[in-house]
Amino acid sequence: MDQNPLFSPYQLGRLMLPNRMIMALMTRGRANPDGTPNSLMAQYYSQRATAGLIVTEATPVSRKAIGWVGAPGIYTDTHVSGWSGVTDSVHRAGGRIFLQLWHMGRVSHPDFLMIVDGFEVLRIHGKPGDPDLPPLIIFHAFRLNR
Ligand SMILES: Cc1cc2nc3c(=O)[nH]c(=O)nc-3n(C[C@H](O)[C@H](O)[C@H](O)COP(=O)(O)O)c2cc1C
Repeated sequence: MDQNPLFSPYQLGRLMLPNRMIMALMTRGRANPDGTPNSLMAQYYSQRATAGLIVTEATPVSRKAIGWVGAPGIYTDTHVSGWSGVTDSVHRAGGRIFLQLWHMGRVSHPDFLMIVDGFEVLRIHGKPGDPDLPPLIIFHAFRLNR
């Protein structure tokens, strides 16, 4: 084993990490406007493939989960195919990569939530970030095709 434990391998489930450096999860805001991961992201992550493990930026799991501009999503087939480009690229460079699944919850800005699956948000209950409230966005909604 190397003198420095940071450079020694670590068995993580079925994955053997060649070292113990795990890349911090960092939002980059470089996805396409519809949230599709692109070649710039594939380049960014594959350049970091020598980390023991890469964990991606926070990735919204639904249209209702978005919290900032440029975030990649993982809730459409196009997103999944964009992510495949990223993971293929990292694997080709010899790396390992996990995706951080994310829901912004009630601290998201209402602008991101105005149109949600054919519903329009009328009012979000509670104050964003209030620790006494459950981590859910609760909203009154009505169908847009009135
Ligand atoms: C630009 C930037 C983007 C970040 N994006 C995420 C993110 O997407 N998901 C997450 O869990 N943490 C995110 N973080 C938090 C980092 O992963 C890390 O936990 C945090 O910076 C703590 O390390 P520090 O105290 O040395 O800054 C982000 C941090 C920075 C500086």
